[in-house]
Amino acid sequence: MSQHVAKLRSDYRAPAYVIDTVELEFHLHDSATRVLNTMHIRRVSEQPLQLNGEHVQLVNLWLDGHLLQPHEYQLSANLLQLQNLPEQFVLSVETVINPSENSALEGLYKSAGAFCTQCEAEGFRRISYYLDRPDVLAVFTTTIYADAKQFPYLLSNGNLIEQRHLDDGRAMAIWHDPHPKPAYLFALVAGDFDRIDDVFVTQSGRTVQLQIYVDHGNAERAHYAMQSLKRAMRWDEQRFGYEYDLDIYMIVAVDFFNMGAMENKGLNIFNSKYVLADAKTATDQDFINVESVIGHEYFHNWTGNRITCRDWFQLSLKEGLTVFRDQEFSADMSSPAVHRIQAIKVIRSHQFNEDASPMAHPIRPDKVVEMNNFYTVTVYNKGAEVIRMQHCLLGEQGFMRGMRAYTERHDGQAVTCEDFIRAMEQANDRDLSQFRRWYSQAGTPHVQVEQQATATGFTLTFTQQTPATPGQTDKQPQHIPVLLSAYDANGELLPLYSDALVRHESASYLFELRERQQTITITCREQRPVLALFENFSAPVKLEYQQHEADLLVLLAHAKQPVTRWEAAQRLYTELLLEALQHNTAPQLSDAAVSALQQLCGADIDPALRALALVPPSPEELAEHCSGLIPVEQIAVVSRQLRDSIAYAIAAPCAQLYVRYRQAQYQLSAEAIAARSLSNLALYYLSAAAPNDAATWQRVMRHYQQADNLTDQYAALQTAVHLQLPIAAQLLTEFAEQWQQQPLVMDKWFAVQAQVPAAETVERVEQLLQHPLFTLANPNRVYALLATFGRNLVSFHRQDGAGYRIFTAAIKQLNSSNPQVAARLITPLTQWQRFSNERQQLLRQLLTELRQLPNLAADLEEKINASLN
Ligand code: TRP
Ligand code: ZN
Repeated sequence: MSQHVAKLRSDYRAPAYVIDTVELEFHLHDSATRVLNTMHIRRVSEQPLQLNGEHVQLVNLWLDGHLLQPHEYQLSANLLQLQNLPEQFVLSVETVINPSENSALEGLYKSAGAFCTQCEAEGFRRISYYLDRPDVLAVFTTTIYADAKQFPYLLSNGNLIEQRHLDDGRAMAIWHDPHPKPAYLFALVAGDFDRIDDVFVTQSGRTVQLQIYVDHGNAERAHYAMQSLKRAMRWDEQRFGYEYDLDIYMIVAVDFFNMGAMENKGLNIFNSKYVLADAKTATDQDFINVESVIGHEYFHNWTGNRITCRDWFQLSLKEGLTVFRDQEFSADMSSPAVHRIQAIKVIRSHQFNEDASPMAHPIRPDKVVEMNNFYTVTVYNKGAEVIRMQHCLLGEQGFMRGMRAYTERHDGQAVTCEDFIRAMEQANDRDLSQFRRWYSQAGTPHVQVEQQATATGFTLTFTQQTPATPGQTDKQPQHIPVLLSAYDANGELLPLYSDALVRHESASYLFELRERQQTITITCREQRPVLALFENFSAPVKLEYQQHEADLLVLLAHAKQPVTRWEAAQRLYTELLLEALQHNTAPQLSDAAVSALQQLCGADIDPALRALALVPPSPEELAEHCSGLIPVEQIAVVSRQLRDSIAYAIAAPCAQLYVRYRQAQYQLSAEAIAARSLSNLALYYLSAAAPNDAATWQRVMRHYQQADNLTDQYAALQTAVHLQLPIAAQLLTEFAEQWQQQPLVMDKWFAVQAQVPAAETVERVEQLLQHPLFTLANPNRVYALLATFGRNLVSFHRQDGAGYRIFTAAIKQLNSSNPQVAARLITPLTQWQRFSNERQQLLRQLLTELRQLPNLAADLEEKINASLN
């Protein structure tokens, strides 16, 4: 069995050689692309030069122009080593690679007819021998040769220096990127595309050419991405003072891509899912995702590219910060509360789940076998929460002072999380030593709060504790910002007085919890006020706090901050669900809760927010509240029961909402999106309240057929399929007929069927795996069907283990073709510890089988070992 070795963060050593310039020459060919790589190198310490290389065939090697003989270097599987080198030298490496066989989609590969690259994290070593580490920054010049007819566009980073046709039917292009960069930001694209063009004038008056490249016929669907790009560029100037630094910014959309998108300098490569959007083929959520990913990759130009990571353990330095930035951007573009709620849901349903898994890790991991396994919700989304907590503690102005200090000190460098936090600290003259634990300590802190009346107000006792995670048993208390407000029984805000509280710019009070246990005394005219704790999710923790239903209803109806109202509804639902689970009963909405929900339907607040507040936590989110084994079947039952009682409770107001918020004509404004979300939710609840009525089926059918946009059409399909209405089969057939030529829309067709929380979903998924349009070669398709199914708690964990078996078979195949995707899929199998005995045994047996694969990839091996050991 292969044993891949772990790297430790503490083993970091500065590079022994630096590369000042790189000249790359690509002779593109499907199965044998020749790469000539000429590096100007300087030695900084007396050690051999060790260049990384994988799946590359070495052809020739020259040192200062002399062809080297095999005895003059050492070549092993993944390393090319040279010794006794001069202080400065030119090394040229000629390699041959095979892009058309590259199904891992890392390095140089073919997506449909186009050549493209993906080099983060360690993919450049699949192109040439190189010091493939982020702290080696070089100036790249790239020359591309390819067939002129097949590949009208030859693109790379930076500025186009020269382009011409050659006599032999080939063309060549030379690109030069003046900004020194690590190899993971290198990109090359060659293909035949449609292109849309625009310009952006920066705040200092420079004109930047903007280009988006898409497959033929898709140009119309790229305009929203272009508008988003321009909004992102303007926003980054205004909010962060960051200006773009090249004369051209290119985005290429490809269908075959492992992740969302990649911030290569001047030449972003995107999963087409995050570029293409029009009303007919994209839902409102797709539009929102396009804007946020376009923003994310653009924002990396400063936080990631100009200031990059010293080593991959520091990944959250660029990702956490850039997610924070894209969240702020999206919030500023439309409803901040709606975006914040979506971010909170990601943490609660996915990041808390990761913290409770064998792969739990701090946002700055200490130990890594395969770096691709660490592009996680912890590094990205919890990383963003850790930045947000600094923003909360320092305030907008203090945070921006810190950002300016960080940028001024480190522009052009490869740095660490420690460098970031030190800039924040020094710019604000604050001690953040305890706060640093958020970078080093894994796991979700639990914060318990007890409230006690006093003669002049009340006290609050906070107790914090973080459960052990693999390799970290002894947890230290965290520095936790707690935002809070108090209300009286009529929903009036109460002023609070306490040494422990400061008025925060968010309009809440801020308390900084630092000890394991801390009691604060508050003067208040009410002794038992209604409290809103951790407002706006001020820290990524689990709150344990008993609150009467009546108090939650006060917050739901009156809280000043919209997120607090949504949170009150969530707490209400969660309490009901947990109580039902505990006592084996059905969740019971009280009369007061029923009328509160009815009132919420007609409340004078953003329709999108009402829609969010009317949806209880998903079965997956509920599972994160269970301390012992996850009671899969009971969760399925109580979730369904609560859904139905909400549906009965609000059926009448939903009938009104449905009519009131349906749009005569499609628009893409924030208001129209909000209205669609509420009318579509109303359709769903109306249908759930009477799933056997012909009137329900007709309404859903009409909704489907009258839809002039995919949001409405897909909402009708989802309603029919999730509620298993008799019309579901017919709508699925119609949908597939209409959209079979549109892969991104067909992904939704696969996903909607894998989402159904029913036992039969397993057989359905099994059939869909045989569907002519299903393929393991396209990550989007794999995620749509299989990752969706793996997240479907109720069906995936079906008692007999059939769900596990079909999953394992797919993972076996992906282990050879695309290990990165295989490892993303395997997560739900590795969490056997949390399920019943029979399930545990079967899961362990399947994982053991996978572990014995003769060619087990590092990606899978790391996760399986973490799970079984
Ligand atoms: N840096 C990219 C982002 O967050 C992530 C990414 C894109 C990636 N493609 C990848 C990471 C492939 C690992 C492997 O924007
Ligand atoms: Zn990123």
